Formats: sequence, structure tokens, C-alpha cells
Amino acid sequence: MSIALKTPQEIDKMRVAGRLTAEVLDYITPLVRSGITTGELDRLCHDYIVDVQGGIPAPLNYAPPGYQPYPKSICTSVNHQVCHGVPGDRQLRNGDIVNIDVTVIKDAYHGDSSRMFQVGETSVQARRLCELTFECLWLGIVQVKAGAHLGDIGHAIQQQAERAGCSVVREFCGHGIGAKFHEEPQVLHYGRPHTGIRLEAGMVFTIEPMINAGKAAIRTMADGWTIVTKDHSLSAQWEHTILVTETGYEVLTVSEGTRRPPDSIGS
Ligand code: MF3
Ligand code: CO
Ligand code: CO
Repeated sequence: MSIALKTPQEIDKMRVAGRLTAEVLDYITPLVRSGITTGELDRLCHDYIVDVQGGIPAPLNYAPPGYQPYPKSICTSVNHQVCHGVPGDRQLRNGDIVNIDVTVIKDAYHGDSSRMFQVGETSVQARRLCELTFECLWLGIVQVKAGAHLGDIGHAIQQQAERAGCSVVREFCGHGIGAKFHEEPQVLHYGRPHTGIRLEAGMVFTIEPMINAGKAAIRTMADGWTIVTKDHSLSAQWEHTILVTETGYEVLTVSEGTRRPPDSIGS
């Protein structure tokens, strides 16, 4: 299996797409408040991407094999929703946690990133899950380096999640990204060190762990898209688009508002 390496010209375009993606998340951050609907968040992000950034929201009408076209421009996954939550009439309420996942196409290249948001006063358990998942994302990111293996990333994430008594969703994973939304390789968020393909400078992929407070099992809602935990436990996710370099990694989905790595990472 060979994975296309991005050229310097492609990487330049992916830095732009990545920055725009992160800037959509910055833009929406102060608006994620009690009372707003997920549909309103979708509309605001759609208009910002199209009218301000001159970009294309990749999810809109995205239709992988076996799926109906995705009807909205972002994903909003609330509480026990794991991923691909379809924005609609649901109002955010005090205590909710919500993942907003944004993918922008600019100049034919994709940037893909998601963050967790806490609405008002959230429970200790909810806060802990969001922080744990952010830490898992970063434990995965710092494994990235030419010569490392894909399994090193999954292992680092799985170990930390399970040590905390939480579980890693298996059915969805990170992915190569470039001129296409989802490319090879699949980036599993569980695994064994030193297994899987060897990373090479110029590869670009996402890391986007989905961590459940309860069991790992999921199911798909009747809309065909929204994924929820089977046991209704809370789920959290954070995502960055990452370039592999000779000496490590470069996070492409960065902006002014991007959260710094956790102190425990020390970078
Ligand atoms: N952004 C998601 C990811 O991280 C994919 C969403 S597909 C959609 O891979 F169609 F639901 F938008
Ligand atoms: Co992704
Ligand atoms: Co995404």
C-alpha cells in the first residue's frame, strides 16, 4: 500500500485550507451558547466559509458509498452523539457538551478540524471527558514523525483513554486528506506500537479520537448519519489535520484561537 506524499505546493495549499478551517471554529466559538440551535450554528458557519473565506464546506452533499448525501455544512454532535451529528432544530442547553467538526475546501484542498465546546456549567464528568480526549489527541500527535508507525498513534491514544476508564470508538478513524476529503491511510485510535505503515515526511492525515465515558459500542440514528453511544454515555472528540515532517509534525489546522497542547505534553 503506497500513500501519496504531498508536494511542497500542495502543502502550501493545505496550510491555507487548514488555517481557514480553524478560523471557522474561532468564529463560531463565542456563538456556542445556551439557546442557539445547531441549525443556526450550521448556517452561520456555512455563510462564513462561503461569503467571507471564499471556500466550500466539504460536508454539504458529501456522499460516501452507502450513504445518503450529508445535508448540512458542519457536524454538531451533542452529549451522547459521537460524531456526524446533523444540525437541526435542537437548542443547546446549559450543561451540554458539543463537538463542532468543520471541513473547508480552499483551492481544491481540504482542512479538517473539530473542537469540543461546553455550554454554560457542565458536569465534572463532562469536563473530564473533554479534557481527556484533548490530551489523547495530543498524545497521538506527538507520536508523529518520519519513521514512526501508525500503530504508535493509536496505542498512545488507547492507553490513555482506557487508563482513565473510558473507551475508544472503533468504527471511525482518522484519515489521509488532501484533494480528497478521505484518503488512505486509515488512522486508528487504538493499536499496538510499531505496527502499521511507516510514516514518511509529506504524508498528511487527521487524528480525531472519539472517546466514550462508557462502553465503546455505537449505533447509527434513523437519519443515517448521526452516531450515538449505545449505552447513552457521553462522547467527546477533537480533531487536527497533521503533516508528517522529518523531525516530527506540523499541525495544519491552526489559527489565533487554536488551543495550545496540554501542559502534560511539554511542547
Ligand atoms: N469531518 C468528519 C471527519 O472528520 C467527516 C464528516 S462527513 C460528513 O472525517 F458528511 F458527515 F460531514
Ligand atoms: Co476527519
Ligand atoms: Co472532521
